[in-house]
Parts: sequence; C-alpha cells; structure tokens
Amino acid sequence: MPTLKINDQTITVEPGTLLLDACKQAGYDIPHYCYHPALTPVATCRMCMVEIKGQPKLATSCTVTATEGMEVSTHSPAVTDARAAVMEFLLINHPLDCPICDQAGECKLQDYSYQYGSDDSRMVEPKRRYRYEDLGAKIVIDKNRCIHCTRCVRFTKEVSRTYELTVANRGAHLEVTTYEGLSMDANPLAGNVVDLCPVGALTSRDFRFHKRVWYLKPMATISRHSALASPLWADVDENRVWRFRPRHLAGQPSTHFIFDEERMACHRYDLDPATRATQPRLKGEASTLETLGEALFSHDSIAVIGQGTFGCDAAQRLGELASTEALCFGSGDKRYAVTHPEFQGDGDGIFNRRGFTERGFRFGQLENLLEQVRQGQVKAVVLLHDEAFSGPQENDLLSRIVEAAPFSLVLEPLPSVLSAKATATLPTATYLEESDFVVNHHGDLRRYQKAVEAPKGVRSPAAWLKQVQTLRTVAMV
Ligand code: SF4
Ligand code: FES
Repeated sequence: MPTLKINDQTITVEPGTLLLDACKQAGYDIPHYCYHPALTPVATCRMCMVEIKGQPKLATSCTVTATEGMEVSTHSPAVTDARAAVMEFLLINHPLDCPICDQAGECKLQDYSYQYGSDDSRMVEPKRRYRYEDLGAKIVIDKNRCIHCTRCVRFTKEVSRTYELTVANRGAHLEVTTYEGLSMDANPLAGNVVDLCPVGALTSRDFRFHKRVWYLKPMATISRHSALASPLWADVDENRVWRFRPRHLAGQPSTHFIFDEERMACHRYDLDPATRATQPRLKGEASTLETLGEALFSHDSIAVIGQGTFGCDAAQRLGELASTEALCFGSGDKRYAVTHPEFQGDGDGIFNRRGFTERGFRFGQLENLLEQVRQGQVKAVVLLHDEAFSGPQENDLLSRIVEAAPFSLVLEPLPSVLSAKATATLPTATYLEESDFVVNHHGDLRRYQKAVEAPKGVRSPAAWLKQVQTLRTVAMV
C-alpha cells in the first residue's frame, strides 16, 4: 500500500487510489467538476489540480494515481493561482442569472467561485449565447450555463447507454447537444443528469422553481419503487417531500443513480391530510381499536398476509398475529423489466421478500389460503397491503380472500378496493411517515427514517399491529 505525504501529512492508501480521493481521505476536499467516481475520468475541467514535488507542471488529481513517496501540495500558491484562472475561464461565458437559476444553493460554480475565484471580472466582451434546445418532458437544458464538464454525456454513454447527448464543435463553440431529434424522455435514468450537472445547465422539469434548496432538509430513506430498495434522500420542507435524490453508500456503486420511476414516486406519497382516514373503521363505521380487536379475536383461526415491500418490524408484528406460523402468507408480484441489471438485479420488485421469508412468510401460496378460507379453516385474515406492488391477478385474488373471510382487517397506506371490502381498516402511515428497515435481494440491510409526520390518528403498520397484539393478550387474560 503506497504511503505519501499530502500537505506534510503522511497517509497510506489502497493501491490504485486516485490522488483526489487520497486527498479526501487526508481531509482535503479538492474542488472538481468533471470527475465523478462512477464515470470515466477525462480531466477536462482542470479544477482539481495539485502540485506534486519534482514534477514541472501541476497535475490533475482526478487522473493521477497515488504512489509511494509522493509529496503533494493542495494549497500552494501555484495551485491557488491555477484554480482562480480556471474559475475565471469558466465564468467568461456563464450568465449571471443565479437569482433565477434553480441550481442556486447547490451549484458548484457558485461555491467554488466564492472559495477560489475572484470577486471581479475582466470580461468586457458580450457573452456567448446558444440556441434553445428541447430535451423533452423530463429535463430542461440551458446551454448558456454549461461548463462542458461532459458528465451528462458520459452518463448517457457509459451508464444509461442511451446515447442522447453528445459534444459538438470545438473551442469557444463547444456545446453539449443532442443527436438530432432525440429527447431524453425514453431514458429511464434521465433524471440523474440533473444530479450530475454541477451547474444549472440541466434541471428537472418536475422540480424546477418549486422550492429553493436551502429550505430543504434531507432525510435518509429508501426507494420502494426499485428492485433493490435504493437508498434515497427525501428532501423535506413544511412536512412535505419535494423530491427524491440518490443517496450514495460507500463501496456500493449501484447506489449512485436511481430510475425516474423511483424519483417521481415522491408524489405518490404526498397525500392530502384532509382526505385521509384518521380512525379505525369497523363495518364502515368509525370505531375504536378495542372494539376492533374484540371482533378480530373472537375468531380462533387468524391468517396474515404481508406484502414484501413493508419493513421487517411490520413483518415481525404481523407474523405474531397469525394463529400459527403456517398461516403467514407473503404477497406482492411486481416485476421490473430488466434494462440495467446492475441497478435492478433480476427485476423482482418485492425488495423485502427476504425480510419476510426470514420471518416465516411463504410467498406464492395465496390460492391455498383462499381454499382454507372457503372451507372455513381460516376465519379471519389480516392484510398489510399496497396495491401498486400486486398485479391485477393478485389484487383480484386478495379481493376474493377478503370477501370470503368472515372477518378481514386491512392496513393500507393508500386505501384501495380491498379497504372498501374489508370488515375493518386501520389508518396506516406511508413508509415516509415511519422508521423501519428492509433486507434487499442482495442481503443488504437498508434502514429508512421518518421523513414527515403522519396526521394525528394515523400510525405505522408496526405500531398498529403491536397494539392489536396487546389486545389479544388482554382478551386472553
Ligand atoms: S450540461 Fe451540465 S453536466 Fe452536461 S456538460 Fe454541461 S455542465 Fe456538465
Ligand atoms: S475534476 Fe480533474 S480535471 Fe476535472
């Protein structure tokens, strides 16, 4: 393992570590635009330069590998001058439209300009202007703001492999553009170019102008709309989630990017509190948990059906309600078309199948349960369900189970026809309103924390099921 000196600090790093990463490990953040750990380094922006003892010129730390005995300076006068010069070049043609730019607050050009640039401009010539180009319904491009780092272009070549973007022309006429007529609408990963763009050249049509980013508080959560429960940041303000962004986990390259379907899912959980049920319901009437529990435990054979998209705590509590372990059934059959296996595995959308299986739930046995209900061997059914993750056939099967059971209790964060048919329902929180964890298909444990508060009266599935179980204990006493 090479040992080197960075600003007089001695550090040992893994063989093959880039200088930029070695500096970071030593506690020095090197400014950079074109470098991204998931993309091929191209060293075009020249912002990451450092001085290496014995070398006549400054080196780009994003392309130089740390080697034994190197002596690196990250803040020498030559480095400081070089950074200021790069900033001046980048700003020559950049419009001064920060007050109306959606990137303001998370713009690397703003940040580095403040840290490394000059507070004056020597530019007296008119700035260059590009013609307008349409990238479709998802992404908006403002080429005047582009600093030509080519992260977006490399992403469409190397990661999404959809090739919509390219670099045309050279020198002062360089521009990021599309191959003629191509929008980014057909790219299922298009939203990532917005995260990758270090400036405001690429913005999201869905999010732009809705919220200034400095009001947002990032909360660690996961995606329910992916095969691997991708880690996400849920950006929250005023008890609402305004956007989802990928949350990279160290050592897990698949967590750099998310699909647009996952990104847009934040709107699915943005529920109007005024339209939400806040009380337990029994036979269509508002009820109390005690009455509901009494009705449930008057039946001696209780089966539970848990959809493998809920958390492990909820699975545990639900399993405890079943009369025997043989009456724990798993549900959920959503699949994704596998276009990018590195992010999707085999496309099984029931990302916590493992967590439920480990707690005794058996998947693919719902027909069997329906038979047991029809024959009177099972008298009551408790369902934890979200209809988005069950196909029409499974939703129909669940509906028949609910209709056939003498008693059914349904917990659904977003009520479906099952809630309407059930004997009883409990007002259930969405996953953004609770904390729990899942174990994905790769065996990775992924926690999610409460991002927003549920309305009064609405509780997490685990909290409801725990309380229901307490009532059973009381009933037995
Ligand atoms: S649009 Fe953004 S990501 Fe793409 S080259 Fe320009 S600055 Fe870089
Ligand atoms: S980040 Fe190294 S040259 Fe751009």
